[in-house]
Amino acid sequence: MHELTLTRPDDWHLHLRDDVVMARVLPATAAVFARAIVMPNLQPPVTTVAQAAAYRDRIRAACPPGAGFTPLMTLYLTEATTGEELRLAAHTDFIHGVKLYPAGATTHSDAGVRHIDRIFPALEVLAETGLPLLVHGEVTDPDVDVFDREARFIDTALEPVLSRLPTLRVVFEHITTAQAVAFVRSRATGLAATITPQHLLYNRNALFQGGLRPHYYCLPVLKAERHRAAVLDAATSGDPRFFLGTDSAPHARSAKESACGCAGIYSAPLALPLYAEAFEQMGRLDRLEGFAAFHGADFYGLPRNAERITLIREDWSVPASYPLGSSELVPLRAGERLRWRVAPTPKPGNGQESTA
Ligand code: NCD
Ligand code: ZN
Repeated sequence: MHELTLTRPDDWHLHLRDDVVMARVLPATAAVFARAIVMPNLQPPVTTVAQAAAYRDRIRAACPPGAGFTPLMTLYLTEATTGEELRLAAHTDFIHGVKLYPAGATTHSDAGVRHIDRIFPALEVLAETGLPLLVHGEVTDPDVDVFDREARFIDTALEPVLSRLPTLRVVFEHITTAQAVAFVRSRATGLAATITPQHLLYNRNALFQGGLRPHYYCLPVLKAERHRAAVLDAATSGDPRFFLGTDSAPHARSAKESACGCAGIYSAPLALPLYAEAFEQMGRLDRLEGFAAFHGADFYGLPRNAERITLIREDWSVPASYPLGSSELVPLRAGERLRWRVAPTPKPGNGQESTA
């Protein structure tokens, strides 16, 4: 197969940041994805409807003309988030989820939740209104091995929360383990999971291949091969509970290549080709469209996209870096080859750009 045309996909987990970084990364996403669930872990975090509305305005202003891209906003849940704010969020047409970061679990999560018991009233409002809870599913207990944090979170937080609030709708974000796959499959309704390209294509050896590789470091961290295989099986199974979420998370080169490097992998410009590569490995390119364009929209109760996009089977080299002001952004697979590329689609805005 040399060409693959599918419904234009959406990215159900994306970090756009703000200001100059956003201006740099947004075009790559908007060129491919019609919509994205935009993570709220700015500094300070997006905790109110008013802040989410203002952030949405900034994203729209930074969007290339004619891109046809819609940001789907989220709120950052803290122990101080009120039920009133969540009801307000549920009544908007632009807030589509509320993100739970256990405090200290990942980049910009300090304002997150320390004691899950304290957010039960908030979770009750989510269960009642149907606004999905988006979960960074890792415990933060320093005594728990970093590779076991996701599995432990299922037993100590996710399972108890869902038992208490069976109607709560949850997206288990960027799953990385066989336990997470099994848990999602065990629930009949209301629970789904996003999957990143890195967790489909790499196991934890990638972090140490010939030396320490900071550009393969994200959270949840890459896992052992048997977990990668389980996550790849889930993504390519056709099960509508699993869908695309790149977790593309840009950090300047200096912040990654550091004695204490940031967690986060930048993948937006090559994400769809990476997913295609993973599905091709499994002989399941026929299921890429469901994973990338249907399952997420169906879970979020949004219409499927009408436009189409074409992937061409053609080798290309990923740039070694992208400019970012005085710094650089190093993408996943920097300087390496990819097997698929996205065919350029003529956009109504293109003609105006040269005269701007
Ligand atoms: C994300 C970031 O940089 O914002 N980092 C990451 O490693 N995935 C935060 C997150 O999604 O955990
Ligand atoms: Zn993320």
